[in-house]
Amino acid sequence: MITITEVSELRDKLSTHRVAGRSISLVPTMGNLHEGHLELIRAARKDSDIVVCSIFVNPLQFGPDEDLDNYPRTIDEDSEKLIQETCDVLFLPSVSEIYSNSLSEQTIIKVPSITVEFCGSGRPGHFDGVATVVCKLFNMVQPDIAYFGLKDYQQFLTIRKLVRDLSLNIDIKGVEIQRDRRGLALSSRNSYLTEVELESAPLIQATLREIAENIVKGAANFDVLEQEAVSNLSRQGMDTEYLAIRNAENLKPAGEDDDNLVILTAVKLGKCRLIDNIRFNRKP
Ligand code: PAJ
Repeated sequence: MITITEVSELRDKLSTHRVAGRSISLVPTMGNLHEGHLELIRAARKDSDIVVCSIFVNPLQFGPDEDLDNYPRTIDEDSEKLIQETCDVLFLPSVSEIYSNSLSEQTIIKVPSITVEFCGSGRPGHFDGVATVVCKLFNMVQPDIAYFGLKDYQQFLTIRKLVRDLSLNIDIKGVEIQRDRRGLALSSRNSYLTEVELESAPLIQATLREIAENIVKGAANFDVLEQEAVSNLSRQGMDTEYLAIRNAENLKPAGEDDDNLVILTAVKLGKCRLIDNIRFNRKP
């Protein structure tokens, strides 16, 4: 694996591969790599000749009160894991390499509608920051395929819309959520959880699964299902930011005829904000 920090060198190296007819895939990350990230690398490895992983803690997607400064940075360990997965290129740019202007002068990509609710309302500006950095990474790497985890389902749909709306010639692939043995979705932020919190966190996934099972069995009063779930989580000390049953394609409220559904949630547990979701067909 080679590590590249400058866009000019990245372009040079990748153009050699492109001219030789090799397919290129990109896995954008913010580092502190765990099995969730590595599953994206493995999917990319299977599908393409050259695998590029970017590690960049993107300041544009963090709010003023969020954990930008404390976000776990573990480059040596990450690099070792990527070598194990036979990643070809680690792109590790500095903030000034990505943003040559001050952030307030930066051109912003705004993806409408799908970004408004959920993590969009809880984290104002977050998806503008994600869409902008991902669009820049796409232009720097020019991959044939890019991989995103379905854990961040709203992010996945946002990137898919961005690619369609801007006619980018990139195939966006979603990779299933990787969990720990208790069912908690893996996340770099899980390291903020205490042992006691780690014990109760799997209830999030169990709650989503129970709602999905009830819907498949015929339960149709979504408001009631949502409220019961919020109360259930609250009894275990979890403060729900949102929990919603939606159409899985566009995140609009699910109607009687919608079959393809998603239940999205974000909960606060201790100092940690955890997100999770489940996707399923009402008539399997
Ligand atoms: P980060 O949180 O590092 O995640 C990088 C990628 O790994 C994302 O596509 C995310 O959905 C995926 N991922 C994280 N945990 C996962 C899990 N448990 N199972 C499956 N996939 C998982 O998401 C970002 O970084 C940033 O917003 C980024 C897209 C890199 C833009 O800055």
